Amino acid sequence: MKILVTGGLGFIGSHTAVELQEAGYEVVIIDNCSNASESVLDGIEAIAGKRPVFEKFDLRNREKVREFFKKYPDLSGVIHFAASKAVGESVDEPLLYYENNLTTLVSLLQELEKKQRAHFIFSSSCTVYGQADTMPITEDAPVKPAESPYGNTKQIGEEIIRDTCKVRDQLQAISLRYFNPIGAHPSGRIGELPLGVPQNLVPFITQTAAGIRKQLSVFGDDYPTPDGTCIRDYIHVVDLARAHVVALERLLSGNNDANYEIFNVGTGKGSSVMEVIRSFERVSGVALNYKIVGRRPGDITEAYADTTRANEVLGWKAESSLDDAMRSAWAWEQEIRKAE
Ligand code: UD1
Repeated sequence: MKILVTGGLGFIGSHTAVELQEAGYEVVIIDNCSNASESVLDGIEAIAGKRPVFEKFDLRNREKVREFFKKYPDLSGVIHFAASKAVGESVDEPLLYYENNLTTLVSLLQELEKKQRAHFIFSSSCTVYGQADTMPITEDAPVKPAESPYGNTKQIGEEIIRDTCKVRDQLQAISLRYFNPIGAHPSGRIGELPLGVPQNLVPFITQTAAGIRKQLSVFGDDYPTPDGTCIRDYIHVVDLARAHVVALERLLSGNNDANYEIFNVGTGKGSSVMEVIRSFERVSGVALNYKIVGRRPGDITEAYADTTRANEVLGWKAESSLDDAMRSAWAWEQEIRKAE
């Protein structure tokens, strides 16, 4: 079966392409390479033994999208990753984010509603919960007003899919709300490739240890948490990628309970920034240069998933530990530096 993976050269997309191919699916990738390199295809091929079909274009080009669906009439499913994801940039460039993340989603759904049956997986985020009132966060926790245009595109994206599914029975969709994806493929062939200065914690840690950044700033140690630093649910990207295959199979086999469903994808375990640093130091043997600075505006105190629905209904569970994920992130960082 042929599966379209938009944004398939990106961090989560590339790991999902590998898992899909290993599960026997044929993968077709669309990516505009705005935040990814074509060489990621080599990594996917090296791991999975097969090179995905690659179509390089921008999903904002409606005509190209139409042509693509004509060229590939036999797609069994679509996993939609392609989107912009930098929170700070979205504040400065809201229209870019609304255009990039929402018009592309609408175009894809317009193609899918022409089909007799369509299966669609959407890349959503725990950011839709904002600072949830209770931990762990279940899927029924209220969606809070978005803190950024980026976060808003995930909320609106979910609403677009929900409203479309209500009136288009042939469309079967799942939104996966990711917690914090980290790590890299254990083969060391694919991983995260942040452009410029990383905004996320783990790539900043590994780049600091590799000597590319001088020091990690820990944003705040006066939060109401046991060690004062923020708590997140860090999930190994390979576990996250597997969740997409399981979700797709739920739709393909018609096992879904409704034609639009939402699942949290996390480990269920919260880790503080200091615990992440300690895990990194433990698995790498490197003492990290860090200092505590003030809070980063917009950060929430804590977020970790209640994974009951994913475990019991979807039949998926995260398997890797924080140490496993940090080990793979460090191996990947060293791999990239070798190539330089
Ligand atoms: C961020 C986004 C979130 C998005 C996710 C995608 C914000 C406010 N949120 O999540 O919407 O879905 O990325 O991956 O940007 N930290 C440091 N020092 C650093 C970097 C981070 O101490 O140099 C801390 C942060 O304060 C936070 C934790 O590490 O407590 C994780 O930060 P990060 O990796 O940026 O993820 P989120 O902010 O949770």
